[in-house]
Amino acid sequence: MARHLITSAIPYINGIKHLGNLVGSQLPADLFARYQRARGNEVLFLCATDEHGTPAELAAAKAGKPVAEYCAEMHAVQAEIARGFRLSFDHFGRSSSPQNHALTQHFAGRLAEAGLISEVSEKQVYSHADARFLPDRYIEGTCPNCGYDKARGDQCENCTKQLDPTDLIDARSAISGSTDLEVRETKHLYLRQSALKDELDTWIESKTDWPVLTTSIAKKWLHDGDGLRDRGITRDLDWGIPVRKGTEEWPGMEGKVFYVWFDAPIEYIACASEWAEAHGLEDADWHRWWRTDKGADDVRYTQFMGKDNVPFHTLSFPATLIGSGEPWKMVDHLKSFNYLNYDGGQFSTSQGRGIFMDQALDLLPADYWRWWLLSHAPESSDSEFTWENFQSSVNKDLADVLGNFISRITKFCRSKFGEAVPGGGAYGPAEDALIADLTTRVARYATLMDGMEVRKSAQELRAIWVCGNEYLQSVAPWTTFKTDPDAAAMQTRLGLNLAHLFAVLSAPFLPDASRKILESLNVGEAVWPKDQSEFLSQLSQGHAFEVPEVLFAKISEEECESWKTRFSGIRQA
Ligand code: MF3
Ligand code: ZN
Repeated sequence: MARHLITSAIPYINGIKHLGNLVGSQLPADLFARYQRARGNEVLFLCATDEHGTPAELAAAKAGKPVAEYCAEMHAVQAEIARGFRLSFDHFGRSSSPQNHALTQHFAGRLAEAGLISEVSEKQVYSHADARFLPDRYIEGTCPNCGYDKARGDQCENCTKQLDPTDLIDARSAISGSTDLEVRETKHLYLRQSALKDELDTWIESKTDWPVLTTSIAKKWLHDGDGLRDRGITRDLDWGIPVRKGTEEWPGMEGKVFYVWFDAPIEYIACASEWAEAHGLEDADWHRWWRTDKGADDVRYTQFMGKDNVPFHTLSFPATLIGSGEPWKMVDHLKSFNYLNYDGGQFSTSQGRGIFMDQALDLLPADYWRWWLLSHAPESSDSEFTWENFQSSVNKDLADVLGNFISRITKFCRSKFGEAVPGGGAYGPAEDALIADLTTRVARYATLMDGMEVRKSAQELRAIWVCGNEYLQSVAPWTTFKTDPDAAAMQTRLGLNLAHLFAVLSAPFLPDASRKILESLNVGEAVWPKDQSEFLSQLSQGHAFEVPEVLFAKISEEECESWKTRFSGIRQA
């Protein structure tokens, strides 16, 4: 039994995610986790909310709530939606957990001891009215170059000139509008990533089986320009993990917190500790997933994320782990995704454009979305959601192919033989050919799923469903029944066994439909097929079943049109 540690990039806390976020990390990670569990492997699948940083503070302020309260609420909301999409996390943690506080401070302490942290003095704008330092993009003023009155502290949007906050005329806080600002000297910690360049280089060069999308991004940052520039890992914010050196105070760092991108990936580890705590387990139980000196050397660790997250996962987080000098498990495979676009533009949280996870579940059950998103995952290039494409995918793949097969075979059996598997008859050439074909296809499907080839796996799965329909169509038990009832019984029996096979193979993509089929077939436990001919003889004479309710309803023209209109504008928050 292999052991798979699987993490999905942890979504920001500030708001409900859209379908583009979902298909870029959580959903394909869930597909892989479900598949590995179905193959009988041991899986620890972790995700969490990414709760620190200015966006979280501002979203809380906008909601008129203390930030801790806002985060707790949004965590519950995101967890509920994740359940709605059937995301099968073993634990859905929080980057604000006590475990992450302790681990983040621990890593900072180790890095400092290894001489990998430097202290740098900088000038920053302090706002008296807001009682805080302002990051560049929260300072607004008039551009000295073109006179645009809403230029930001880092750049003028109008004339594109790069600016320093002190360049702005009549600078004001973008949070409160206050002009009572002051430039203050403040000290920050920098992670000396450049000192780890050779080690990172060797590590990435050893990843010869990684997708080009991943390694090309990593190598680009590693080799050209300033990708490995030392990174500031602290911020002057209230909300976050207080800067400490392990458990000790860090002189000069009072009142400061770690930068969100420093603590967020550490939550992958902390989350395992949260998982252990939630299940009443010991430290040893999560160490065996994360510490190579404590059993994690035989773990295969796979991370899922959008392409914008790749640099942090191939350079910054590995730098933290390597720099600690401790035997932490490093990622073995990193699966990254391009972007999903929405009807000719981009999905956008800030602009409220596209379909958000809660809205999707209000329209249709999770399986419909899972199928479309996964079968159109933006792997080799960006992909695009259109309502027409969604409608045709649901109607053709789910309703006409899989749904139709299940309903046709169960209803036919009920009408001619009753609701129990009929006995009699023997396989002929058509059945032998079908089994041979399925043997090849199921093996190919497994190879694609093991390789996380999401789209190709979906295509192969659909092709397997099509085999079943073509078989039924060609042997036509409803015709055979008139002249040779025994042969018709055998064909029907095989058809019911195919329904069982489809349910098991489809479970990672369509967990709800799969469960419904298995329930109606009275199959207790889903077991992955080893040998097709053996698998397809499991439901034998007399095994009772029921005709399931309609599995997939077709999307009508009217629905499609009305949704298209409803989602053409922007979401009102
Ligand atoms: N919250 C980030 C995003 O949505 C991802 C953080 S991934 C982690 O883009 F590695 F930092 F955890
Ligand atoms: Zn300007």
